[in-house]
Amino acid sequence: MPGIFINGEPVDTGEHRTVLQVALANGFYVPHFCWHPELSIVGNCRVCLVEQEGRGVGIACNMPVYEGLSIQTDSEPVRVQRKAMLEFILLNHPVDCGICDKAGECTLQDYHYTYNGETARSHDPKLRSTKFFPLSERIILDNERCILCSRCVRFTREISKSNVLGMEQRGDSMLVRPVEDRTLDDDPYSDNVIDICPVGALLSCSFQYQARVWYLEPTPSVCPGCARGCTVNLWHRKPEWRLNALDRRENTRILRVTPLENPRVNGPWICNKGRDLGALIDRPRADRALLKGRRVSTKEAIDAARELILEAKSAVALVSSWGSNEELRAFRNALGDTFTCFVKSDSEPAENEVVEDDLLIRADKNPNTRGAQSLFGTDAPKFAEDTDLILIWGEGVDFGSLPRGVTVLFLGYWLLPENGHAEVFIPISVQTERRGHYTNFEGVVSAFEPCQPRPDGVIDAETLFPLLAAPPGSPA
Ligand code: FES
Repeated sequence: MPGIFINGEPVDTGEHRTVLQVALANGFYVPHFCWHPELSIVGNCRVCLVEQEGRGVGIACNMPVYEGLSIQTDSEPVRVQRKAMLEFILLNHPVDCGICDKAGECTLQDYHYTYNGETARSHDPKLRSTKFFPLSERIILDNERCILCSRCVRFTREISKSNVLGMEQRGDSMLVRPVEDRTLDDDPYSDNVIDICPVGALLSCSFQYQARVWYLEPTPSVCPGCARGCTVNLWHRKPEWRLNALDRRENTRILRVTPLENPRVNGPWICNKGRDLGALIDRPRADRALLKGRRVSTKEAIDAARELILEAKSAVALVSSWGSNEELRAFRNALGDTFTCFVKSDSEPAENEVVEDDLLIRADKNPNTRGAQSLFGTDAPKFAEDTDLILIWGEGVDFGSLPRGVTVLFLGYWLLPENGHAEVFIPISVQTERRGHYTNFEGVVSAFEPCQPRPDGVIDAETLFPLLAAPPGSPA
């Protein structure tokens, strides 16, 4: 590999082919808008300027490395030309950072303060353009803020391959627009363009004006939407920025979901279903145990469940494929010999959902089928003639399909009519209220952390299983 010099220091280029890649990999920051490590190089923002010894200033993202190349990233000519480029990019920009959702994460804002910092010299009125162009039901485009870096266009061509976006017109009239006859609604990965937009041009409809990003913090988690198990960040208010005017649930609500880059699983992308995890978790929560539909304390419900388990002659457990590895192990250790156990599918593809593709989306819509099947086998659930007790853990079971007269012990999360149809219902914690691990379809184990408080009356399944295995009357 060729050795080059950056700011006078010898640098090993490794596998990298361009000056920008080598500089970033070795801790020399070079500003960039249009370059993205997962996309092709177009070199159109002209802000990644560096000085090449003997040849002047040029763009680093498209500059090949060769033995002995000497680069300056912050020389006087670089500073002057970079500042001029930023002034040019901002010439018609509305600079409406005060109402822009990207404020706090905007590279244009950061670069302006770092590399320019001056007020505008131009007295000409700025060109006006479309402010709220609907690209889809999920995304709006502010053309006045768009710097035409084309990251979004290249994403739909090179990564999601929906080929939905293109550029029309030329010069300062140029616009990002959907290609004729296509809509971004058909791209199940469309929301990634919001993340990779370096400015505030592409905005999420669900997140718009919800919160300033500096009031939020991310919690690492795993998308439970399919067996890929993409790692994600769940964004919610920082504890110190919770508002007295909001109730507890609103203060801890998941306001947005973004990819947590993971080369082994999902790279820097997730699908739109993963973005909607907040809405999935926001469903009305069950927080009281029930005995034949009557509200009881969790302790009473556990005692009643113990009696049922003790009296059962042939007990079957439908184990959740949304259970964490820790919960699944706890179940097997505590109750694995008491029940005949089958792994069930908690979630099936929804209507109009993309079932499977060759980027990320898997047909199995459960996050931990592999982890559950490694402990409980791959047989489909079945009941014997004498099955008299069925423990249902999680969603996905049609109570009407169960054998008549069988007793049901239900461990669930949401307020559902089925809760009252079970002999005993015990509410258990959801993924955002506990920590754990899922094993994805390829065997990669990923961790998730809690970011919401567990409601009173709700118990962690990992805690519950040993309690259910104890004799009636034991402490609960
Ligand atoms: Fe090099 Fe845009 S990052 S021209």
